Amino acid sequence: MGEVVRVVFLGPPGAGKGTQAKFLEKEYGACQVSTGDILRKAVQDRTAVGKKAAGYLEKGQLVPDEVMLNLVAERLREKDCAKGFILDGFPRTVAQAEGLEEILGELGWKLDSVLCMRVPQEMIIQRLSGRRSCKKCGNLYHVVLNPPQREEFCDRCNGELYQRDDDREETIRARLHVFETQTVPLVHYYRKRGLLREIDGAGSVEEIRARVFRELEEGAA
Ligand code: AP5
Repeated sequence: MGEVVRVVFLGPPGAGKGTQAKFLEKEYGACQVSTGDILRKAVQDRTAVGKKAAGYLEKGQLVPDEVMLNLVAERLREKDCAKGFILDGFPRTVAQAEGLEEILGELGWKLDSVLCMRVPQEMIIQRLSGRRSCKKCGNLYHVVLNPPQREEFCDRCNGELYQRDDDREETIRARLHVFETQTVPLVHYYRKRGLLREIDGAGSVEEIRARVFRELEEGAA
């Protein structure tokens, strides 16, 4: 890979985008831009964006494109993103992908790759229903598949772990439907642009990690 990575993680809820984005962040010194994390923080802090987004998050629906594009345009202009970025959970619609192209054009940047993770539906439900996230640093765990050393506490910072409100089975199904109808068209969009790298997302965290690094390195070769 070159010195600066600029990649997108595409994939259904629970595919492991956040888990793998954190590895890339560490390896390449790039920043993980998780639109889900940004929105959850905005909801918690009751900002104007948070007030607009809360109802959508709760139902597992997409926050309007305009809100998302403003939010990402602002985030990518922050200084740390000049070191590279991993977009995790954005874009999710063709309008967002087109908007992203414009934002990157203005900054004089281009995407290196779009990493598309595929995971069977039963596995997604299993992964999401056992997910725990750290309140303090955002590190991710699974009660069975990737447990913390001390139950309910983060290995990295000792923060308390919590379960996301949208990880209830009914909301997970709504999110999966939204993914199939609104985000899957991006596979074709990025394939046409020669950026798509498909990754089998079934396997252990370590196995997927190795596949992601291989794809990135082959993409850069
Ligand atoms: P967001 O937070 O982006 O959620 P998501 O896309 O549904 O993805 P997840 O965070 O659920 O899953 P992930 O793929 O990151 O998996 P993870 O690594 O955590 O979005 C939430 C909401 O915000 C949306 O519904 C929408 O309302 C709104 N939103 C966000 N972005 C938006 C946008 N661009 N436009 C409009 N609205 C937007 O892994 C899951 C679990 O599995 C963890 O427990 C992990 O430990 C475990 N795990 C991971 N990999 C493995 C493995 N290989 N083996 C076993 N377990 C594993």
